[in-house]
Amino acid sequence: MPQRTFSIVKPDAIRAGHAGAVLAELDKAGFRIVAIKKQSISKAQAEGFYYVHRERPFFAALTDFMSSGPLVLMVLEKENAIADLRKLMGATNPANAEEGTIRKKFATSIQENAIHGSDAEETAAFEIGYWFAGYELI
Ligand code: CMP
Repeated sequence: MPQRTFSIVKPDAIRAGHAGAVLAELDKAGFRIVAIKKQSISKAQAEGFYYVHRERPFFAALTDFMSSGPLVLMVLEKENAIADLRKLMGATNPANAEEGTIRKKFATSIQENAIHGSDAEETAAFEIGYWFAGYELI
């Protein structure tokens, strides 16, 4: 059974002109794009999305960064999508990311780390529903 996950190409990767290259990595790894849109988000939208991190010291900087420019929001599908995307992304901190991962190739810091991917099934369901209506999932 294919599984769905949610992903974001973050503003740093878009600004650096890497959006197409990130999408190519996802395509090469066998992810099907269920839904995709490029947009800028407000600080309040970023705060709602990252609500679980609201007590973290990096919350203000993270939500400033995520609302600092356009991003690409995506719902992706494949067998084992959640774990496979996390593996393809690499460690949160690009300094610890394995060779060949998206963050190793495109991320510049622990915050400006090029891509987001859901970390569990419940998170994926929340994140997909936060950004997409059911009729957009095709
Ligand atoms: P993401 O996978 O989108 O989930 C939460 C984000 O918070 C993470 O990627 C990073 O961009 C950011 N983040 C996590 N840990 C730190 C940290 N220690 N300092 C700054 N930003 C962080």
